[in-house]
Amino acid sequence: MSTFKPCAIVWLYLLSGSLLAEELPALGETVTADELAAIDYAILPNGDGLPDGAGTAADGAVVYRTYCFACHGEAGTGGSNDALAGGHGSLNSDRPQKTIGSFWPYATTVFDYVRRAMPLQSPGILSNDELYAVTAYLLFINDIVDENQEINAKTLPGVKMPNRDNFVWDYPKGD
Ligand code: HEC
Repeated sequence: MSTFKPCAIVWLYLLSGSLLAEELPALGETVTADELAAIDYAILPNGDGLPDGAGTAADGAVVYRTYCFACHGEAGTGGSNDALAGGHGSLNSDRPQKTIGSFWPYATTVFDYVRRAMPLQSPGILSNDELYAVTAYLLFINDIVDENQEINAKTLPGVKMPNRDNFVWDYPKGD
C-alpha cells in the first residue's frame, strides 16, 4: 500500500505530460497552415476583419448557457469570474464595476476577445455563428441590442457602446 500512492502520482504525471505534449505546439515546431489560420487575424474597432456569419441574442443565450454560464454566472452577473453585465454608471463611484456594458468602447472588441480567449479552457471551439450569437447575447444583457436583432459583420460595428464617448485620444488622430 505504501508504494501505491507514489506510483499512481508518477503515472498521472507522465500521462498528463504526454496529453499536453500532443495538444500544444512544441517550441521550434513548424506551425501548420490550419493552426496559423486560426490565430492569424485582426479585427479592428471599425469591423475590418470580421468574418462571415450571424446570430441573435436569442441564439446566443443557448451558447452562453453551454459554454460561459459556469464561470460568468446567470446573465453575466458574475460567478467565479468577471461580471460581463451591469455596473452602468458606476465608473465615477467609490466602487466602479467595469463590464462590457459599463466600460468597453467597441462592440467589435467583444467579438474579437471572445473569439481569441473564451471559453477559457478551450478558446477557438465556437463557430463564427456561435460567436456572433454570444456577442449579441452579451450586448443584450447589457441593454444595448434587442433580443432578435441580427448581429453580423455589417451590424456589429454600428452598435454604439454606452461608454464610447468617455474615452479620449491621448495622441493626435491619424487621417
Ligand atoms: C473556465 C471559466 C471560464 C469560462 C467557461 C468562460 N470564461 Fe470568460 N473569463 C474567464 C476568466 C478567468 C476571465 C478573466 C481573464 C483575464 O482577465 O485575463 C474571463 C474574461 C472574460 C471576458 C472579459 C471581461 C472583462 O470585462 O474584462 C469576457 C467578455 C468573457 N470572459 C466572455 C466569455 C464568454 C462569452 C464565454 C463563453 C463562450 C466565457 N467567457 C467562458 C473565465 C471563463
